[in-house]
Amino acid sequence: MPSVHSSARKRCPRVCRMMEKPDRALSFALLCSILFFSMASKSQNKCLLSGTWMNDLGSNMTIGKVTPDGEFKGTYMTAVSAAGKPIQRSPLYGAQQLRPNFSFGFTVSWTFANSTTVFVGQCFVDKAGEETLQTAWLLRNEAITQADNWKATLVGPNVFKRIK
Ligand code: BTN
Repeated sequence: MPSVHSSARKRCPRVCRMMEKPDRALSFALLCSILFFSMASKSQNKCLLSGTWMNDLGSNMTIGKVTPDGEFKGTYMTAVSAAGKPIQRSPLYGAQQLRPNFSFGFTVSWTFANSTTVFVGQCFVDKAGEETLQTAWLLRNEAITQADNWKATLVGPNVFKRIK
């Protein structure tokens, strides 16, 4: 035969019984809001480009603070070059959308070569929370004469993962 206690349990499950004790209810609400806000703040920071990223060629870039308008500056250290000169860290300037789908673009003005690269891309977050930047770039080399213009631009993809 069911006891008075067990029928009370059926009518009022655990959370409901908790609400009968205000101090417990308050702690429960506090815990839920801490969890909610910590999860929300973590997911909000995803895809903000600030930080250090490495691409599939082994190049890395460090991006400083993204302004409330989405503008940013940083530096780019390429792992490869066709310039035949010693590689140096070079400045980058860009802007990103601060809302899904976080598309962005930036320019690298190479300090050791007469070339310029522009990257455009989009940030994706997988189920494990890992961010990936899928980008495409145009590398403009110097054309010595206008007749050489046709061969001065290269195009390619790069995939970046956050390393910091
Ligand atoms: C040059 O060789 O003219 C300057 C360096 C170019 C490096 C290119 S930019 C696109 C691609 N992605 C990289 O990380 N490096 C190369």
